[in-house]
Amino acid sequence: MSNNKRLTSSPIIHHFTKLGSTNDTAKSLLEEGHEPAFWVVCDEQTKGRGRRSKEWVSLKGNLFASTTRRITTEPNKRASLSLVAGLAVVDAINKATEEPSSELTLKWPNDILVKEAKLGGILIEAQQSVRPDQTDLIIGIGVNIIANPVVEGRDTICLQSLDIQISRDKLLEHLTNTFQNRINQWDEGRNIEEIKAHWMEKTSPLGTMLTVKCGPEYITGAFMGLDTYGALQIKLNNNTIQTITGGELVSLIEKEKT
Ligand code: BTN
Repeated sequence: MSNNKRLTSSPIIHHFTKLGSTNDTAKSLLEEGHEPAFWVVCDEQTKGRGRRSKEWVSLKGNLFASTTRRITTEPNKRASLSLVAGLAVVDAINKATEEPSSELTLKWPNDILVKEAKLGGILIEAQQSVRPDQTDLIIGIGVNIIANPVVEGRDTICLQSLDIQISRDKLLEHLTNTFQNRINQWDEGRNIEEIKAHWMEKTSPLGTMLTVKCGPEYITGAFMGLDTYGALQIKLNNNTIQTITGGELVSLIEKEKT
């Protein structure tokens, strides 16, 4: 069941009690002709998807939401928008607390962590828009509010266990605001440098040793920051800098298990 709400100067939010995946429903709504930027949220998500074809275990009471944005088709815009989304989620959670938490961090490309434990994740998918020079992005956001799933090989955490009490609807209200604020700051990518600077404040210090899984390959090196558009840069043993546009940071323990 969908119940569409539009508050003054607020985005349209399509609310459903139960869905497979909010990203899939957002895609269907785009195909039916609904114009971005709208949001889809559900109380129960039965086929939540994570990055790299992983399942997103969707425990009832947590946030499952997707928003849509129409952008001009340039390959780098998607990467930089990913940083925007991560910052918006951190901003929204910080609004629920008395003072911003320095414990909330971002892991490239856009995991939301508290001391290495995963609190939330973002899945960005793209589809051709009505006009050939435009792309529609579906930005799916999951935040563990009241429960954290047991996921093999990684720690997870939820807001409640951090003593952050916030309802799903309040967090969504903050998120719709913070997302739009960060989108405005991003300014269609013209202000990516400012976004990158804020993102860098929330991630591991430069020089941290990272391992990235790119397909079947593992690449280890020192974190050197982000390139112009938000791709990850690491310095390899042979002192060359490698730019990584797609991949997943893994812990060394995870790597050793394989
Ligand atoms: C990840 O870290 O792997 C990304 C997780 C994204 C999960 C959200 S929940 C709402 C939206 N719908 C989905 O099916 N996935 C995203």
